[in-house]
Amino acid sequence: MAIKNLPSLILLAAIYFYGAHSAVLTMKNNCGFEIWPGTLTTSGSPVLVPTGFHLAPQASKTINISSSWDGTFWARYQCSNSGNKFTCLSGDCGSGRIECSGADAIPPASLVKLTIGGDLDQDFYEINLSDGFNLPVSIKPDKANCQAVTCAANINSACPNELVVKGLNGVAVGCKGACIAFNTPRYCCYGDFGNPQTCQPTKYSEIFNKRCPQAYSFSGDDENKTFRCPTGPNYLITYCP
Ligand SMILES: *[C@@H]1O[C@H](CO)[C@@H](O)[C@H](O)[C@H]1NC(C)=O
Ligand SMILES: *[C@@H]1O[C@H](CO)[C@@H](O)[C@H](O)[C@H]1NC(C)=O
Ligand SMILES: *[C@@H]1O[C@H](CO)[C@@H](O)[C@H](O)[C@H]1NC(C)=O
Repeated sequence: MAIKNLPSLILLAAIYFYGAHSAVLTMKNNCGFEIWPGTLTTSGSPVLVPTGFHLAPQASKTINISSSWDGTFWARYQCSNSGNKFTCLSGDCGSGRIECSGADAIPPASLVKLTIGGDLDQDFYEINLSDGFNLPVSIKPDKANCQAVTCAANINSACPNELVVKGLNGVAVGCKGACIAFNTPRYCCYGDFGNPQTCQPTKYSEIFNKRCPQAYSFSGDDENKTFRCPTGPNYLITYCP
């Protein structure tokens, strides 16, 4: 083959590897009420759209990821539109619209973090409750030897007064992580508490860890709560699994 074809071979190879890093994400609302999932792409990855959308009970939505990607998913509920502004009592991102457009979840929100096509062609995924919880959630790769991660408990109903966020009719719709609630060295693991020997679980992180042991419960939690799988599977994220 003539050497002048080399550039197009390289291009084909690039398209092949680019295409190899792809995944179909399905988001399912298994809650008995409406939710508005939000998505946030980590800077450096191609922005995933939509960045916010509505899901009726039992509805689901599919989003294709067609490259290496890194970002976060969560869900909002008890939302309303007043004076042209869309706001939610749980999981709001502060954009004032259904699309979050790069705005992050305002804690507390149960975060699902996902990396497609990361180091060594692996995917990484976790449920992260370090900043708090607002809705049970699970993430499940559709590959037999890759583990699902689930936080099925409703931690809101076990949330102490000093951490709770209340929604309509005073019902708990969120439970803050202790660092978000108190912002002290002990709960945020800085200063005297900034190393692995002193950054330890607290009675507050244990509230989350006991009910959702697969999820990160504070910033110094066991690193094995980041799950990995060779890049390739599609993912199902279920709210209220
Ligand atoms: C997403 O991917 C699936 C399967 O790979 C394909 O059937 C579907 O057409 C794609 N949807 C969009 C919007 O690209
Ligand atoms: C992480 O490792 C600890 C022991 O070091 C174990 O008790 C725990 O179950 C593991 N967590 C997960 C989610 O695998
Ligand atoms: C969990 O998420 C928070 C907020 O995005 C982040 O600061 C933290 O590093 C993440 N990981 C752990 C182990 O808490």
